Amino acid sequence: MQGKRVLLIVSGGIAAIKIPETIRRIREQGAAVRCVLTEGGAQFVTPLSLSALSEDKVYTDIFSLTDEHEMGHINLSRDADVLMVAPASADIMAKMAAGMASDLATTVLLATDKPVICAPAMNVRMWEHPATQANIQTLKARGVTFVGPEEGDMACGEYGMGRTSEPAELVAALRDFFSDVPKPLEGRHAVVTSGPTHEPIDPVRYIANRSSGKQGHAIAAALAKLGCRTTLVTGPTVLPDPAGCDVIHIESARDMLAAVEKALPADIAVCAAAVADWRTADAPGQKIKKQPDSAPPALSMVENPDILATLSAAGNKRPTLVIGFAAETDDVIANARSKRDRKGCDWIVANDVSPATGTFAGDDNTVHLITGDGEETWPRMSKADVATQLVARIAATFEAAE
Ligand code: CTP
Repeated sequence: MQGKRVLLIVSGGIAAIKIPETIRRIREQGAAVRCVLTEGGAQFVTPLSLSALSEDKVYTDIFSLTDEHEMGHINLSRDADVLMVAPASADIMAKMAAGMASDLATTVLLATDKPVICAPAMNVRMWEHPATQANIQTLKARGVTFVGPEEGDMACGEYGMGRTSEPAELVAALRDFFSDVPKPLEGRHAVVTSGPTHEPIDPVRYIANRSSGKQGHAIAAALAKLGCRTTLVTGPTVLPDPAGCDVIHIESARDMLAAVEKALPADIAVCAAAVADWRTADAPGQKIKKQPDSAPPALSMVENPDILATLSAAGNKRPTLVIGFAAETDDVIANARSKRDRKGCDWIVANDVSPATGTFAGDDNTVHLITGDGEETWPRMSKADVATQLVARIAATFEAAE
């Protein structure tokens, strides 16, 4: 990040207290930081501390004639290589989505022609509110990228999604932005499924599995890093949304299929989700009550749609490269090879999920890649490294076909 210039827009929220540390870390990487502080942000962190750490003036007021003379609000953003809004409150994102210019921060954001990265921070209910989610979709569609938020304890005493990413994550997002990694998948679109699905038994109970979503999320992040427009369709997990992806949260297999079909067309599909094979034949709208002296209810099951097989047989909507996973506990390669034939996909990434391997919840994976040309066994490595290697292989395949 040597010599790069970051314009940090600090809006209101307790997470603003993470910003001095973030400035220190960005500058450690060789980049210069200039801050715009909103009125709300100034309730949590002082202009003086930001100025001391950035060794620059902190801009707070749009109607300051001196500031306008020295550095007009247009130049404030033109002078930077990237704008990072951290923390990005629900309010500032709503204003960005609406195109408002009611203070210096929003005016700079409206006037800029530079890339913008937002690090949202808010209470979980505000995060989940349809208005906030709609604003985020609007901003994503305009090319704004996001870091976090993450799940955890909140300053307000609640627990959930909405915590701002830590300074290290914010700096990592900037490092990725400035990295010279080539973007061989630019112009391509990938759909990735990840995590478990939840199949309702009644409104309060469901059938699920132990998938963490770590492998699917890592693949989505790796695709986005190589410039691929990536739609991640994920079942319930505790993981933060990976940076740079359009993330669609679903619960059941049928919701997942609908979201995947809606996301088409795509060049690449990676089905890493542990989709429940069955769901209950009918989930009543009311909670099933225990009846005194009667036997436990018998659940009648029906098969779920197979998303991988559906995509593989999607005719002219079929992605060029369809990749499935095979979670096996025995005869891993033989089972995976026949799964590839049965489902009609191009590649299968097979892994041993016997409890002794710790694969499902763990951070590492030992995989075999099965293609039409044969199979190879990769050494045990982190799920992030499996993702990087798999995505590099995907990029090489598209490059070879050009
Ligand atoms: N898959 C899917 N939709 C389903 C079931 C599985 O898209 N309803 C996908 C998974 O995402 C994975 C692949 O199919 O890419 C294989 O999943 P796996 O659970 O290993 O295979 P199953 O089809 O469930 O077969 P079995 O459980 O009998 O091994």
